[in-house]
Amino acid sequence: MAKKIAIVGAGWMAAYHVAGFRAAGAEVVAIADRNPAAAREASQKYGVDKTFGETTDLYGAIKDLDAVSIITPNAFHHPLVMEALAAGKHVFCEKPPALNAVDVGQMIGAAEKAGKTLMFNFNNRARPEAYVMREYFRSGAVGRVNSAQATWIRRNGIPGFGGWFTTKKLSGGGPVIDLLHMIDLALHFMEYPEPRFVLGQTFSDFIDNQEFKGPWGIPDVKDGVTDVEASAHAFVTFKSGQVLSIRNSWAEMNEREIVSVVFQGQKAGGKIQRLFRVDGIDATSIDSCEVYSQEHGVPVTRTIIVEADETMGRTRSAKNFALVLEDAEAPLNVPHEAHTLMKIIDGIYASAKSGRPVELA
Ligand SMILES: NC(=O)c1ccc[n+]([C@@H]2O[C@H](COP(=O)([O-])OP(=O)(O)OC[C@H]3O[C@@H](n4cnc5c(N)ncnc54)[C@H](O)[C@@H]3O)[C@@H](O)[C@H]2O)c1
Repeated sequence: MAKKIAIVGAGWMAAYHVAGFRAAGAEVVAIADRNPAAAREASQKYGVDKTFGETTDLYGAIKDLDAVSIITPNAFHHPLVMEALAAGKHVFCEKPPALNAVDVGQMIGAAEKAGKTLMFNFNNRARPEAYVMREYFRSGAVGRVNSAQATWIRRNGIPGFGGWFTTKKLSGGGPVIDLLHMIDLALHFMEYPEPRFVLGQTFSDFIDNQEFKGPWGIPDVKDGVTDVEASAHAFVTFKSGQVLSIRNSWAEMNEREIVSVVFQGQKAGGKIQRLFRVDGIDATSIDSCEVYSQEHGVPVTRTIIVEADETMGRTRSAKNFALVLEDAEAPLNVPHEAHTLMKIIDGIYASAKSGRPVELA
């Protein structure tokens, strides 16, 4: 029987989740949003029958619900995931996993206790480039990744002023936690080693300057809070000896928006990159995927051609979750990776605050 999944949070990301679940043969049976009008609008748009304002009503009403997809502002991920697991549902949760690593630890404990699948939407792992790169890793052509550089830098990309994105207690932070995808992808390529030290610095220039507003985001809130960073730079060392450099920004004097992971392995290196045009629209982006090696005494650069995916793996990632529920695919991410990622993010903020390296283990 098709798995029954409900959407919690009817924002624009719901479109990708609905498409991905349906592509895997799952049924999207309900949409819950604490703004009932948003739930109703989305239900019409996606052709979903039932809507709910409160998730407690959802669990009471649909007894044979298998899973929920949490797509709310970050601060609600932890309570909604805990509630869903307590109700005995599998959970797919948008990134970031939570506001901090302690909350992620609790979510993992709850998933283990309930015996349910908990996955997060690290959708860049589902990009066609990432699938290809994984084949290079699996073949042994790259060897261990010694070092990587994770970059998601925007020049003018603040996603609205005063709303939940720029309010630390609702978002957990600015671009470090919001644009965590390349940090996750680099760690994925490095096989998620255990971090040892984190050294980071954040900057908040431009965070309340309208000239740095992004081409998308949520509506501004007059007199709202803007207490998160606008950019960050960090360096992470791992117990294994591997190292990772990080650059994330919503607003910084950069050339253009660059989204990339570059890595140096023992046998080969590589790069996955998405360049956005200055208007920052997904459809105008340029993807590239390259592998660097030394062959027959000469340096070789392979350009790997993959199909374009405007969704940045978002639909494929949701499809993966639904296929995992059917035991038809291996999960693209497992919870302990989310825990490590959040420890690193906590470490960047703690180091920026103290001005010192933070020892994580
Ligand atoms: N993976 C990606 O590429 C990607 C891209 C954008 C956003 N996101 C993530 O998706 C999440 C949502 O972002 P968004 O831009 O859609 O936000 P949004 O503010 O546009 O929409 C969120 C929806 O959730 C609803 N909501 C808020 N609190 C709720 C609660 N407690 N219970 C039920 N519904 C609630 C709101 O009414 C709203 O309709 C965030 O965590 C964000 O980081 C991921």
